[in-house]
Amino acid sequence: MNSKILPRFKCLPGRAGQWTLMITGGLLFFLAAGASKAATIWLDDLDLGAVNQSWGDPHKNRSVEDHPLTLGGQVFDRGLGTHAESTLYVRLEGNAKSFSATVGVDDEVQSNAATVQFQIYGDNHLLWQSRVLHSGDGAQTCNVVLKGVQILLLKVDDPSGDISFAHADWAAASFEMANGFRPVTLSSPDEVAQILTPAPRAKPRINGAAIQGVRPGSPFLYTIAATGERPMTFSAKHLPDGLSLDPLTGRITGTLNQLGTYQVTLKAKNRRGSSTRSFTIVVGSQIALTPPMGWNSWNCFAGAVSEDKVKAAAKALVDSGLADHGWTYVNVDDFWQNNYRTKDPTLRGPYRDAQGNIQPNARFPDMKGLADYIHSLGLKAGLYSSPGPWTCGGCAGSWRHEAQDAAQDAAWGFDYLKYDWCSYEDVAQGKVHSSPDLPTWQSSHGTNDTAVASYPYNVMGLCLRAQPRDIFYSLCQYGMRDVWKWGESVQGNAWRTTGDINDSWSSMSRIGFSQDPAAPYAGPGHWNDPDMLVVGKVGWGHLHPTRLTPNEQYTHISLWCLLSAPLLIGCDLTQLDPFTLNLLENDEVLAVDQDILGREATTVWKEGTERIYAKPLSDGSKAVGLFNLGETPTQIKVTWTELGLKGKLHVRDLWRQKDLGRHKDSYTVTVPRHGVALFKVW
Ligand code: GAL
Repeated sequence: MNSKILPRFKCLPGRAGQWTLMITGGLLFFLAAGASKAATIWLDDLDLGAVNQSWGDPHKNRSVEDHPLTLGGQVFDRGLGTHAESTLYVRLEGNAKSFSATVGVDDEVQSNAATVQFQIYGDNHLLWQSRVLHSGDGAQTCNVVLKGVQILLLKVDDPSGDISFAHADWAAASFEMANGFRPVTLSSPDEVAQILTPAPRAKPRINGAAIQGVRPGSPFLYTIAATGERPMTFSAKHLPDGLSLDPLTGRITGTLNQLGTYQVTLKAKNRRGSSTRSFTIVVGSQIALTPPMGWNSWNCFAGAVSEDKVKAAAKALVDSGLADHGWTYVNVDDFWQNNYRTKDPTLRGPYRDAQGNIQPNARFPDMKGLADYIHSLGLKAGLYSSPGPWTCGGCAGSWRHEAQDAAQDAAWGFDYLKYDWCSYEDVAQGKVHSSPDLPTWQSSHGTNDTAVASYPYNVMGLCLRAQPRDIFYSLCQYGMRDVWKWGESVQGNAWRTTGDINDSWSSMSRIGFSQDPAAPYAGPGHWNDPDMLVVGKVGWGHLHPTRLTPNEQYTHISLWCLLSAPLLIGCDLTQLDPFTLNLLENDEVLAVDQDILGREATTVWKEGTERIYAKPLSDGSKAVGLFNLGETPTQIKVTWTELGLKGKLHVRDLWRQKDLGRHKDSYTVTVPRHGVALFKVW
């Protein structure tokens, strides 16, 4: 008992003191008794916004398609309607007695295709699981004792692996709680944001792409990316005539007219020492010999982008040190043009002038000035348009102005064009005949004719090729008609393989782990694009820290590097936190993406929630990712046979940049929930 309170009772006079003691004692007994009494807390009374699910939104007291919760003909007025695969974490801190629910596939599913399995984990141990339930199987009930459980996981799996129709109900779901504790829902269990990338050394180290393609006569720009103490000076041996290097900035500029391959040795020097690296320049028909690395405005600003924000991003790319790791492009996405849908005066104005030249909106008063500013930092500039009359956001597109727009992009000085299908769907379906000023866009995203799907990309591809500068050409049409099979034939340097990504585990992992069919089509000059990165502060105009956990972010970056994906940071670079910065500056990890062999990793082994990816590298080694898609830490073993190798091999942990010794036949490691172990094996 608190000794400061005790004397006060002593001071109370006679009977009054006794009464006070009796009343206080009674109150304490009452409180204690009340606290230990179990209270029922309904799952639907908790915040269901924390549910992760593969399709649709979680519904309180309704099915995922917003009907009354119904299982085997019985209607329930309380519960959670979700969709497999679904996870919900609940913090209980040992205060729960039990959890009960009636579960099944909601009767709203008519097809017999649905397969679900409900599982309940307490602190990573499976406590209960339902039978594998199909549509029409009715309900199963559970009542699980939760004594001592800190973190509970309510999970719905789809054992068939195909999530179609997996409408899953946790009906009449409730906790029996003790100690007056109210459960707290979480989208993921708490995780420590471990900083893994070692800090760069003071001595120079040259990073970034070790090869660059350029077309004869096009302006050449390459900035030597190097970490290490400043001041630093740069030099180059065997630089071909036509190019010159600024020794203070490390920028190589000029033009080359002769076809050929030039082997250059780059050198960076500071008071701590120097380092050299070979660099290949290929003058020919191909550019983008390694995937582009940079930033794009969409995932953070979407329709709220402006020239000031883009300039601030470019400056932050340099000031943060990211440019020293090879991050180069600064790309403006949608909303630099005028828009038909909005009333915002900064987005309203003429789409084109009397000569048909595209007009930027009031937020972008000087497009050439913007590109010049980006170049003045040693970086490259990117822009966005659509083959249709309107972009996806409702801004003016390039339809019927393709040659003029390509020439304008080049004249302004842009080095990259993302070309987004959207309203071209209407053109493809013959719905747009008259004035391009008639906003007729509706998204149906899906012509089923490859000739029609590829036509507008070929038109712009040829227009870009006719320009006196190299413009990276990024096809954005969400993977329609297996674009990876024909993207290169329309001059594409990269093509999106799927719909848009968002900062959820289900979106990122679904996209990232489904790239195998496109993998054989990637190579120097033409890359599969699984969409932009969702780390840091993202939010499409409403910024928030990414909802991916730290381990999920390691998975995201590792996987995108293994996939030889274009790496476009999607966050607000002026608000980089130390974890995100550390994640984006691991030169050994980025070197996997930038490897000059240009082979994309594929799955070499897959079982349950475990995946092993391998990517052959130009030095004969392999980059290997061991991924755990499951909800609990798992031991994963990779055998050298799976990698097509044998013997006693070196293993290096790329995130920690640490050798792990030589290992015979295999290597085994525990991989955290939704996490990765990324190695180089040779
Ligand atoms: C989408 C595209 C996004 C973004 C957006 C702009 O179609 O996939 O990456 O560019 O349009 O409106």
